[in-house]
Amino acid sequence: MQTTRTASSSGTADARPLDLVIFGGAGDLSARKLLPSLYMCHRDGNLPDGTRIIGVGRHRWDREAFVNFADESAQPFVEARYLEPAKWQTFLQRLDFVHVDASQSGDYPALAAQLRQEALRIYYMAMPPGLFAATCDNLASHGLIANDTRLVLEKPLGVDLASAIGIGEVVSRYFSEDRTYRIDHYLGKETVQNLMALRFGNSIFEPLWRTPFVRSVQITVAETVGVGTRGGFYDEAGAMRDMVQNHLLQLVSILAMEPPAALTSDAVRDEKLKVLRSLRPMSPEDVRRNTVRGQYTAGAIAGELVRGYLQEEGIPPDSRTETFVAMRAELGTWRWNKVPFYLRTGKRMQERVTEVVINFAEVPHSIFDAGSTLQPNRMVIRLQPEESVRLTLMVKQPGEGMKLKPLSLALNLDSAFTTRRAEAYERLLLDVIRGRLALFVRRDELQAAWTWVDPILEAWRQQDEGPRPYTAGTWGPAASSAFMAREGVQWSEEA
Ligand code: BG6
Repeated sequence: MQTTRTASSSGTADARPLDLVIFGGAGDLSARKLLPSLYMCHRDGNLPDGTRIIGVGRHRWDREAFVNFADESAQPFVEARYLEPAKWQTFLQRLDFVHVDASQSGDYPALAAQLRQEALRIYYMAMPPGLFAATCDNLASHGLIANDTRLVLEKPLGVDLASAIGIGEVVSRYFSEDRTYRIDHYLGKETVQNLMALRFGNSIFEPLWRTPFVRSVQITVAETVGVGTRGGFYDEAGAMRDMVQNHLLQLVSILAMEPPAALTSDAVRDEKLKVLRSLRPMSPEDVRRNTVRGQYTAGAIAGELVRGYLQEEGIPPDSRTETFVAMRAELGTWRWNKVPFYLRTGKRMQERVTEVVINFAEVPHSIFDAGSTLQPNRMVIRLQPEESVRLTLMVKQPGEGMKLKPLSLALNLDSAFTTRRAEAYERLLLDVIRGRLALFVRRDELQAAWTWVDPILEAWRQQDEGPRPYTAGTWGPAASSAFMAREGVQWSEEA
């Protein structure tokens, strides 16, 4: 008999009321994602009775100011059809705010006064990683960490391996790994979880999901937005730290992992870790050959003129920060030996799209008429903005002779399911509340990702030339197409 186990089966429900403390409560993430997602949890009756949401930050705000902030800055991010005025009001009643400068020990008694002994505590750190360690020390020295208190860490988790290890060491003094929730919001996306459903819920792909049947894998995460108001943060990070080190490598690990024995958190994370550890390290010469960096210049997106990166707010005029990366990665494993994984991400690109393309091998020998160009099968899994799966197959064109042409089997998951899809943050917050760890990044995964990324960043720093300019509204610098042409392949939109 088959048994079914889900990620949820590893969670432990807790009926206690919750004190959910958001460091950085008055910030951008809180407004755009956390408060709207918590409202959705509240609306659907998923917050334990008596739950309070306590914003913490350097603003000298009181409860009323935080409620105004939620009304003005967070409410617009709730989808209009789910905004029920009465429920929004009861949600607001859960909010409170405490002025705490996270680095100032003297500010913590005010927070202590707000917390209830009987409540389960969750600290959500939506603030720069440089403050994580001091905040944990301060919480501990004021006796605010119980042995079941949970900690949620928002990315970026460090700027390199050394800083990630440093944060990990301080955090682990106070929070065991099973109480530490490192967010990579891509793991909370319905569509990303569907990659596992496709791979492990169907038997037809598994035997082919390897060399020599897969010739290459492409992952594109293209955005049309620029850096907006986050210039200060972004210029320190760049696309490599902001997107590749976390979101793209998490996608690689899900696409490439061996089938886990179960969907429990450690079974899945053990397999993902093996993938991250098998990424082939790059020498400076490999970095020169296998990576392309870009930086956007002024251009137009959907007919609207947009400025260049160097003209954005808070960006130094001589910045060498990359807003685009294309690269070839390889995994040193039996399954994936010499199969290139082409990764690409950028801001201010032509379209917003997140897509995975699996290029299968060509047939070994063609028996068809001249003029029939046999295209290798390809599976295109689109994760954003809409969710679809297309598998191209060669079929016979009607008429005389045997001329073939590619046609797609297509699934549109958006129209197949009409049920509401929870936003990534909503799902992840619920998982923290319910104690489910599967969709959070484990400390060793994080370190494995930095271990691979660090030498690439270092090689870039040593290179004389900076990122190549590309016009906003395009698919990145021409060098990224040239780099693929050299490999005898094309990016999917060019194919
Ligand atoms: C965040 C990055 O982690 O992901 C942002 O910091 C980026 O720069 C965002 O825009 C993209 O997320 P999504 O869900 O819109 O694909």
